[in-house]
Amino acid sequence: MKKINVCIAFILTLTLTACEDGGNNSPEPVPEGLSEEYYTGGQLGTVFNDTPFAYEQPSPAVEEQGFSYSFQLGEAFFEHEFNTNITGTRKGLGPVSVRSSCITCHPGYGHGKRMDRYRANDFGNGYLLVVTDENDNYVPQLTGMPQVQAVAPYLPPIDETGIKIEWRQYVDEYGNAFSDGEKYNLTYPEVTIPREAFNVSMPDFYKVRLEATIGIYGTGLIDAIPDDSLLAQYAREKSLGLTLNDAKYQPENFIREVDGTSHPGRYTYGLTRGTLQNGPGANAIWNITNVTRSDRRYHYITETYARAMSQNEAIQQALGKDEAAIYADLMSRELPVEMSDEDYIDFMVWHRGLAVPAARNLDDPVVKKGKERFYEIGCTLCHRPSWTTGTDNYSGDPMVAGKLPRYPNQKIWPYSDFLQHRLEMVNDIRTGWCRTTPLWGRGLSDKCTGASEHLHDMRARNYTEAIMWHGGDAKVAKDKFYRLSKEDRDAIILFLESI
Ligand code: HEC
Ligand code: HEC
Repeated sequence: MKKINVCIAFILTLTLTACEDGGNNSPEPVPEGLSEEYYTGGQLGTVFNDTPFAYEQPSPAVEEQGFSYSFQLGEAFFEHEFNTNITGTRKGLGPVSVRSSCITCHPGYGHGKRMDRYRANDFGNGYLLVVTDENDNYVPQLTGMPQVQAVAPYLPPIDETGIKIEWRQYVDEYGNAFSDGEKYNLTYPEVTIPREAFNVSMPDFYKVRLEATIGIYGTGLIDAIPDDSLLAQYAREKSLGLTLNDAKYQPENFIREVDGTSHPGRYTYGLTRGTLQNGPGANAIWNITNVTRSDRRYHYITETYARAMSQNEAIQQALGKDEAAIYADLMSRELPVEMSDEDYIDFMVWHRGLAVPAARNLDDPVVKKGKERFYEIGCTLCHRPSWTTGTDNYSGDPMVAGKLPRYPNQKIWPYSDFLQHRLEMVNDIRTGWCRTTPLWGRGLSDKCTGASEHLHDMRARNYTEAIMWHGGDAKVAKDKFYRLSKEDRDAIILFLESI
């Protein structure tokens, strides 16, 4: 997309004249005297932009700290497709891949869309397949993010035409109706993959769930929250008696960085990633595309897959190689580097540089009422409104440390505790533990992505459905929401759309 230069001076002085030579990425002048809550990502991380490009903007920190050019170079790795070429731009896709580009799964940089079928090339299909055994562990025959695309003559581990998504109706304890008669409709996905659709041998038992994408804007600000603050939040909720995933907070289970330091998880539903630099995007640029880089000169595939492909006679013939040679190629740990360090650094500058769109309409009387109700009925127990970032001196990966935009000492408003809860839904997420999804920016989802579904598998088509799926420790708040008048429920939703 076209980037318009931000004019920081404009935001600070709120005068148009300061912007003569630059313009700004705020389509509207920033009104004077806004309360701090409008600055969702703090002064360094917020853009006043509510256009369909609101999720894709560089933060003021990017511009102020001199990263604009690098940001634009990095952006291409997210927005454009990788190619199967062995030379040229964005080369190296395959031999198997989950998708050819990030943006197919993160449309408009937001959450993925609810889908009725699973096709890698359906734009906005942000679903990852989660294939697990009877103990809910990932099956070792497939990669954690299973691939459905392959470069011929290789076959994908799963033939996607065999995947079936069916939406089932669910009737809750209230018969899907509020006492004033307003109805809501709850549906959830049932996913099946027949044995024949796998090109690798599978265990006797396996089950499939879907995990949908999370918005990526503002993830750099989340990175700047100190570990101590996350641990304090855990301790606070623990003292309130909430059911929490305690194992995640044992230091031996923290997630290790390249330099050996370790951190509690803060990203993904599964809290599997502790920093952005060792995070879901840094990992995805390798394992979604299977594009190698200097620190990962091997493929994201399983041993089972390498065996199956190397023993396949049609593949042996097509490649003119024997089983041992094909197996060695697939399992090599010394593959040529496809993405340069320079490109990777630009990519991480872009990733850490994404701003959060400012909140809107917070002074509207209905929004104000909605906010009061949201706090009163206990939604903030888990959707913690604000956090303050620390000194933000990341050092875990020497390749990028000291080369990225920083967000020190910013008050930010993500509306999440970054802890996991069990909301106890039918066909729930793997293990049932799910991180509280940040609510910031979600009101612009329809504009930016063309969809605004919610929850880890997009089972909720609007805010009411999302709230009514809440159970477990969130049942108390859900029940209070249920007992509010329609006017108050609508006010809460308007508030959610404004933050
Ligand atoms: C197959 C679809 C798919 C593709 C392609 C994909 N992602 Fe994701 N992404 C997901 C899903 C699903 C999640 C949520 C997964 C989870 O929590 O386990 C996610 C989560 C994330 C998050 C975490 C946000 C948070 O708050 O925890 C970031 C950041 C991210 N992706 C960045 C990227 C980048 C950068 C790329 C390209 C290199 C990319 N993704 C490609 C599906 C995808
Ligand atoms: C006990 C903790 C807890 C409480 C209390 C709670 N939530 Fe949540 N909320 C979560 C978790 C965890 C998720 C993610 C669940 C999932 O995706 O399966 C979530 C997801 C959501 C989502 C969907 C986010 C998205 O975009 O996918 C909305 C909207 C939401 N909550 C609103 C509310 C409101 C409104 C209240 C008060 C009535 C509330 N929540 C109370 C934990 C909580």
